[in-house]
Amino acid sequence: MKVFINKVIPAYGLRLLKEAGVEVTMWEDSAILSREEAIAFCKQHDAFLSAGQAGLDEGFFRQCSHLKVVALHSVGFDGVDIAAATQQGIPIGNTPNVLNKATAETALLLMLTVARRALFLHRKIKRGEWGVSQPTQDLGFDLAGKTLGIVGLGRIGSELARMCRQSWGMKIVYHNRSRNYEAEDEFGATWMPFEELLASSDCISVHTALTQETRGLFGYEQFKQMKPGAIFVNTARGGVHCEPDLIRALREGVIYGAGLDVTDPEPMAPDNPLLDMDNAVVFPHIGSSTVETRNEMSRCAAENILAGLRGERLPYPVNP
Ligand code: DGY
Repeated sequence: MKVFINKVIPAYGLRLLKEAGVEVTMWEDSAILSREEAIAFCKQHDAFLSAGQAGLDEGFFRQCSHLKVVALHSVGFDGVDIAAATQQGIPIGNTPNVLNKATAETALLLMLTVARRALFLHRKIKRGEWGVSQPTQDLGFDLAGKTLGIVGLGRIGSELARMCRQSWGMKIVYHNRSRNYEAEDEFGATWMPFEELLASSDCISVHTALTQETRGLFGYEQFKQMKPGAIFVNTARGGVHCEPDLIRALREGVIYGAGLDVTDPEPMAPDNPLLDMDNAVVFPHIGSSTVETRNEMSRCAAENILAGLRGERLPYPVNP
């Protein structure tokens, strides 16, 4: 049995595949494979382990209908036509849960970096502007005791809520399509209509999947409904906020600041105005980028591949 892997994954997952006797072809070049190149490779393999590949659409699955399994090296599967894969009988797997803590920590890092103006102050030292410190100078604001609004209180959002509730005593409000009673019981989270959450939160963190419903959910109007002193953080998908509207809101001081781990498109262009703004921080989609988490993600992906090759139900399935 042969698996094609389109990027370099941790040795941990690779070993699981090799120990099971699977023949592995891994694309190690830094140039991203085109959809056509990926199809050509997949045609010569029984399984595909995808660490982000554009064009996993209806045509892809039709041309690769022989694949016994496609294992994503991510929890998110936006951009993958799951219905088309299901129609071709191809099981799709992902890597849920193992990245909850790392991604929640990334959201917290962004919240703290923006609240304490860390990047701006770092740049100030670099410019030789660390003069006499005045007690009224370079002030940020406390997260402790403030209200955290979570849009999409699922596994990752709950992890962040837990940290912020337990360690900072933050009040947790959230907006989901349906109520998360577990979270309400565990950390007293309060469900709110979206508009009410915008107006009530000192910090808003986005953890929703990118769907037709959530694309462009945050535009200028929504930023205007937020508190002027509030922070916007997105570690989910860049498409959930409208970037030109966010830039305008930050320039006009409509909100206090923004921290992004995701952009649309990715990678962000180096001349993007957000990168020069003192009230914005951007990370290159590093939510799950820790050694431990990436190892676990490679384990989930390898286990999905092995189950798919054996014709068994995937341990971490996406298809209904
Ligand atoms: C995920 O797993 O979906 C993360 O966003 C990394 O892509």
